[in-house]
Amino acid sequence: MGQAIVISIANQKGGEGKTTTALNLSHGMAIEGKRTLLIDMDPQGNSSGIFVDSDNIKDSVADIFLHKKLIKEIIQKTKYKNLDILPSKINLAEVELGTLNVEAPYILRDAISKISTAYDVIIIDCPPSLSIFTVNALVASNFVIVPLQAEKFSIDGIKGLQSTIESIKRRINPELQILGALVTQLKNNTVLTKTILPVINNYFPVFENSISMGVAVGESHLSRQSILEYNPNIKQAKEYLSFVKEVVNGIQK
Ligand SMILES: Nc1ncnc2c1ncn2[C@@H]1O[C@H](COP(=O)(O)OP(=O)(O)O)[C@@H](O)[C@H]1O
Ligand SMILES: [Mg+2]
Repeated sequence: MGQAIVISIANQKGGEGKTTTALNLSHGMAIEGKRTLLIDMDPQGNSSGIFVDSDNIKDSVADIFLHKKLIKEIIQKTKYKNLDILPSKINLAEVELGTLNVEAPYILRDAISKISTAYDVIIIDCPPSLSIFTVNALVASNFVIVPLQAEKFSIDGIKGLQSTIESIKRRINPELQILGALVTQLKNNTVLTKTILPVINNYFPVFENSISMGVAVGESHLSRQSILEYNPNIKQAKEYLSFVKEVVNGIQK
């Protein structure tokens, strides 16, 4: 059986919709029948907290970086069919990878290679930084998706992200492709199409689908569900489902 396609959800700015996108893309892929693994690379463990009881996370992604556990010992099933999770917790923030450790950028890629045939898709929820953990995610990935809000401060950061991606591509992982930027928390379509879209387009291709702002998203997090389970009829659920289809098409090309 083939290797899983690995997709990082990355943006060094917090609050741009990475975790929301990682959760709903993962569940959407699982609904599409793809064997899916969500890897939480954020020490804050936000996506872990949706799918597993945070108080009960004993082993986590940090144990891979500390060489204490094998990846297959840490992966947990979620309540959703076809969807597993590799959870994270706050101790990831304490993992120090010495700069003299030449293995440092490759730890996640090596771990993933051991389980890669068990999945069709692996989605990585990155932390809000360009730390060694985001670098590990990008080194391990075939594709990167950049969620961002259609706002000035969000756009200000994308140049730094683009150059990090380009540098990883040049030096370590020539396979890495930017699948696109996903506009999240959209309030006004006119502003998007008139002013922001052309700016983002200078850096990244932009997904046709965007995700509008809506309270249901926060409510779904509170009830520890994907938006697709929380209310599949709501606007944001439909938008995320269309986005999932766009991703499925994009990665097959
Ligand atoms: N489409 C949306 N509509 C309303 N709120 C949203 C939407 N997407 C994300 N949010 C909220 O914005 C905040 C940041 O989103 P999150 O996915 O955690 O971003 P990140 O992982 O990039 O920090 C969260 O409180 C989340 O509930
Ligand atoms: Mg997050």
